[in-house]
Amino acid sequence: MKGNVIVGQSGGPTAVINSSLAGVYRTAKDRGAKKVYGMMFGIQGFLDEQYVDLSDYIKNELDIEILKRTPSAFLGTCRYKLPAIHENKEIYEKIFEILNRLEIECFIYIGGNDSMDTIKKLSDYAIVTGQPQKFVGVPKTIDNDLALTDHTPGYGSAAKYIATSTKEIIRDGLGFSYKKSLVTIIEIMGRNAGWLTGASALSKGEDCDGPDLIYLPEIPFEVDDFVERVSRLLQEKSTVVVAVSEGIKLKGGRYVCEASGGSDYVDAFGHVQLTGSANYLAGVVRERIGCKTRAIEFSTLQRSASHLASRVDINEAFMVGGAAVKAADEGDSGKMVVIDRVSDDPYQCATGIYDVHKIAND
Ligand code: F6P
Repeated sequence: MKGNVIVGQSGGPTAVINSSLAGVYRTAKDRGAKKVYGMMFGIQGFLDEQYVDLSDYIKNELDIEILKRTPSAFLGTCRYKLPAIHENKEIYEKIFEILNRLEIECFIYIGGNDSMDTIKKLSDYAIVTGQPQKFVGVPKTIDNDLALTDHTPGYGSAAKYIATSTKEIIRDGLGFSYKKSLVTIIEIMGRNAGWLTGASALSKGEDCDGPDLIYLPEIPFEVDDFVERVSRLLQEKSTVVVAVSEGIKLKGGRYVCEASGGSDYVDAFGHVQLTGSANYLAGVVRERIGCKTRAIEFSTLQRSASHLASRVDINEAFMVGGAAVKAADEGDSGKMVVIDRVSDDPYQCATGIYDVHKIAND
């Protein structure tokens, strides 16, 4: 590699998002990049010329290891949607003017399906206008909802946090309530994908039966049926634990959290903030059944809990970061690195690469 590399982080953080950043840095340096720049706050900060030279922060092997285990997005992220090329050509001209000035050869973006839209648009523009840069995406999201990859870095650590914390909540209830009913409702992220909520079932083991009920966003939620099931469970046991996805919807498609007021905040990609389902359902149980309730929203804890990060997840996040630089350096553009499962037992994964147009949200 003769030129420089720039890397950005975008969308919601994960416990291992910085491990991918470390992987990008390491491979870029190993392949001879003179400079590895980091965009501050993704493409949005880059438009304001906010970037750093990562060598100012990463001085040795220990720094790489620490970065791999550091929660939150080291560079800062954004939820910023680039306009279509025909809508605002000036933005693209500005981005490529900066990229050319910094002698960027490879542009790497760590993100989910919304963030891959940035890779798609920039690589399309580069082809049409004959720009030399290569654009490759690195998968990242706790939601595990990216197409064509076996799973996404970030999911494993969040799933581990959810399984562990759910077990602790269930065990807490068992020790506490003798002849007193308690219904605990846990709300789990994942937007419209149920993978994370499903991970609450991993709490089941010798010492724990797992949640009594699990509600996924893919299946319409019925309030009356939910109350009926909770009532029946309370006839058999005094503590009931329910795991619900933040994205559960009523039959007509309305989010349960909207029925409760929720939040009316909408991001640049048109996603409404999902929050309040557990609180709402705890209120319904209190009102209709009359027992004690508790609503627990894991919220950002599930994606920032680096004390519980999965080692496999940290290593895979590092691996996909490195694979993206290698791909871009070898001429790939408009692509995203994926994780391919090679074998289940022993568990083994390798990286592959796919056309980002098949993955990105519009
Ligand atoms: O996409 C990752 C995610 O954590 C979702 O599970 C969640 O709905 C969303 O981000 C929350 O985004 P923000 O932190 O921007 O409100």
